[in-house]
Amino acid sequence: MSSTPIRVTFLCLGNICRSPLAEGICRAHVDAMGVADLFDIDSAGTSAYHAGDAPDPGSIRVASAHGLDISRQRSRQLVARDLSERDFIVAMDTSNRRNALRLGAFPDDRLVQMLDFGSAEAGRDVPDPWGGGRDGFSVVYQLIDEAMPGFIEYAKELGPRNR
Ligand code: 4NP
Repeated sequence: MSSTPIRVTFLCLGNICRSPLAEGICRAHVDAMGVADLFDIDSAGTSAYHAGDAPDPGSIRVASAHGLDISRQRSRQLVARDLSERDFIVAMDTSNRRNALRLGAFPDDRLVQMLDFGSAEAGRDVPDPWGGGRDGFSVVYQLIDEAMPGFIEYAKELGPRNR
């Protein structure tokens, strides 16, 4: 890697449904855009409920249907160090964003919500598909995939933080 990467953490509650998908989708977009080298991408949960677990089968299935393999990801809990080390935290919903701030301060323009970058009518929260039906995961995939290019452009524009 030639320069400081842009460090991005996608965030949800369990880090088994939404944020692992967002991580996989972001990797696919930056690869397709030829800018993968600019980014260091991971994901986390605000809880430790599923720490060490693989993504939910529903997320693995919908990713696979779109040619993405997210099966080797493992859930981890967001820690205070992430708030000093990551350049962007992308929360899937409003409560994830609020819970991240319990660990410490983070620049307002870098603690964003995924659907800030989607079409307005989609609303702000990526719905939690956990325990729901199979359709929930397709909706989550579509919402994240649509918003992702806007987020990537935004992250490239702002770049890494000055440390
Ligand atoms: P996620 O979904 O936040 O998209 O990974 C959830 C996974 C697990 C739980 C809640 C949401 N849970 O309560 O265990």
